[in-house]
Amino acid sequence: MTELTQGDISAEIAELHAAYDARRAAGMPALDSAQVDFAPYRSSVLRHPTKNPKLVDPESIELASPAFGHRDVAAVEADLTVQHSGEPLGERMVVTGRVLDGDGRPVRHQLVEVWQANASGRYIHQRDQHPAPLDPNFTGAGRCITDDDGWYRFVTIKPGAYPWKNHVNAWRPAHIHFSLFGTDFTQRLVTQMYFPGDPLFPLDPIYQSIPDQAARDRLVATYDHDLSSPEWSLGYRWDIVLTGPKATWIEPEGSDA
Ligand SMILES: [Fe+2]
Repeated sequence: MTELTQGDISAEIAELHAAYDARRAAGMPALDSAQVDFAPYRSSVLRHPTKNPKLVDPESIELASPAFGHRDVAAVEADLTVQHSGEPLGERMVVTGRVLDGDGRPVRHQLVEVWQANASGRYIHQRDQHPAPLDPNFTGAGRCITDDDGWYRFVTIKPGAYPWKNHVNAWRPAHIHFSLFGTDFTQRLVTQMYFPGDPLFPLDPIYQSIPDQAARDRLVATYDHDLSSPEWSLGYRWDIVLTGPKATWIEPEGSDA
């Protein structure tokens, strides 16, 4: 099989977006969710759902599914820079925002979990063996509970871009994975947050699998200088909206890049 280049993938993305723009011009409503069988994202073609979801009893799933945990979430778990004896390398930052419903109401006391690559773009994961260094002072996972106004807040370092094997020279824009637990596991939602101005956006078939530009923009955090601390860290703001026309795109089950 011929190895696909970034040029091949970018041409496919441009073709699909042009077709989408034409359908929009003809009156089709905006598509603000990711296309689960977006061909430039190669593995999505092989594993996207082709049948309707199987209905199961949510209570029986709860018996065997991951749970909230056996202990409370400690405040320190929201600081990914203090989990080891030394400080992680990289650009220290605060990422904070609100979890809101479609009417702008805060979604309170929800478990928010994050996982991310280190500053070099490397995950501590068996499947990530690309030759960037692991950081002995950075695991890349944290969690917190939203407060009464729906706020979450993490202290971490900015993740690096990393290569993936979708095509030759494929690189993911820097991102942080977010999970929202809901009130039980069957309500869990997963998405990704990106950083403003990333030059990899137009090249990334995962980011581009959302046809609508405004919906893609909603995955990008805002740099907020008021959240930056002198001599210490930068600050980013990112709100997550669960429903309605301004909803944050949520991943279908099975995505893992
Ligand atoms: Fe990732």
